[in-house]
Amino acid sequence: MLKLASATPPGWAAFAAARLDAVLLDHAHCERRAAATALALLSRYPHHGALQAPLAALAREELAHFEEVLGHLARRGIVYRRAQPSPYAGRLHDGVRAHEPERLLDRLLVAALIEARSCERLGLLADAVPDPALAHFYRGLRAAEARHHGVYAELACALVPREAVAVRLDALARHEAEVLARAPVAPRLHDAAEPA
Ligand SMILES: [Fe+2]
Ligand SMILES: [Fe+2]
Repeated sequence: MLKLASATPPGWAAFAAARLDAVLLDHAHCERRAAATALALLSRYPHHGALQAPLAALAREELAHFEEVLGHLARRGIVYRRAQPSPYAGRLHDGVRAHEPERLLDRLLVAALIEARSCERLGLLADAVPDPALAHFYRGLRAAEARHHGVYAELACALVPREAVAVRLDALARHEAEVLARAPVAPRLHDAAEPA
């Protein structure tokens, strides 16, 4: 159901699980940015009534995830602070077309792909971390981010015919796979692992 054009390479989860403090800090910022993305779309497109309620609910849920990650950081004695973001989201947005109405479609589909990749990687982490509380948390998030992928994809289908959404989602998924293939090695949710 997730429309990703590549699978995360083997070895990524072990690399990330061995650097959990950094991964959790990056993850907190990812959840904060996910809420901000939904709010930015609400602010930019008030004339698209279909977006408002689903994106408001999604923003609240992402903020709840953010608070939960803050709890895990505190439990591990990690101070929440500014962190160098991954280039992933910025490079992904290079694939967004400049003019409306294509721009909104692309922004929704890029958001759908970020949710899909987060879902895939949080699921891999769930199976790789030794801490049962964290594994349980990641499993819950895997389900939530899969649902968010569906929310964004369905909102896109409310704007343009489903077949056109599928074609564009395929193209952007290939772009996402290329962005990820060029990702730096870093202990972040959307970056690469050291080769094994
Ligand atoms: Fe989330
Ligand atoms: Fe999400």
